[in-house]
Amino acid sequence: MPSIALIAFSDMPGIHTLAIVKPDAFATGKAGKIIAHLEAEGFTIKAARVLTLSPAQGGAFYAVHKERPFYAELVGFMGSGPCMPLALERADAVAHLRTVIGATDPAEAAPGTIRKLYAESKGKNAIHASDSDENAAREIGFFFDAASLA
Ligand code: RTP
Ligand code: MG
Repeated sequence: MPSIALIAFSDMPGIHTLAIVKPDAFATGKAGKIIAHLEAEGFTIKAARVLTLSPAQGGAFYAVHKERPFYAELVGFMGSGPCMPLALERADAVAHLRTVIGATDPAEAAPGTIRKLYAESKGKNAIHASDSDENAAREIGFFFDAASLA
C-alpha cells in the first residue's frame, strides 16, 4: 500500500512515471545524456537515487516477467552494476515517456529515441519506463518513500 503522502503525490492522474537508467548506460557513460534527453522532453525529476539492485530487488521489480524465458538474464543484468531510478513529472507522463524511449529492441526503435540512440541490444536497452499509471504509482513506491518525493 502506498503511504498517504505518496497518494497525495500521485493524485493528479497521468503526470508521474518511473524511469530507470539501466546498468548498460552507466557502463557506457551515457547516463548523463539520457537524463538530459528526459529533461529536454519536459520531464521534471522529482526524485532520484543510484543503487545496484540485489537479486531480490531486481526479481521483485520485474516479478511480472517471472515466467518469461529472459527473466533470469534480466534480473542478472539489472543487478550487474549501478542503475538510477527517476520519479518523473510531465503531462501525459507514462505515454510520453514510452514514446521517448522507443521500442524494447533498439534495432526496432524509432530514430531519435533513447533506445535507438544509446541502447546496444534488447536485453541491454539503456532505460526502463512504466507502462501504465497504475504501474507507475507502484514502481515509484518501490524505490521512493513519500519523504523523498519533491
Ligand atoms: P522495460 O519494462 O524495461 O521498460 O522494457 P519494456 O517495457 O520495453 O519491455 P518488457 O517486455 O517489459 O521487458 C522488460 C525487459 O526485459 C528485457 N527483455 N529481454 N531477451 C529478450 O527477448 C527480452 N525481452 C525483454 C528487456 O531488457 C526489457 O526492457
Ligand atoms: Mg516493461
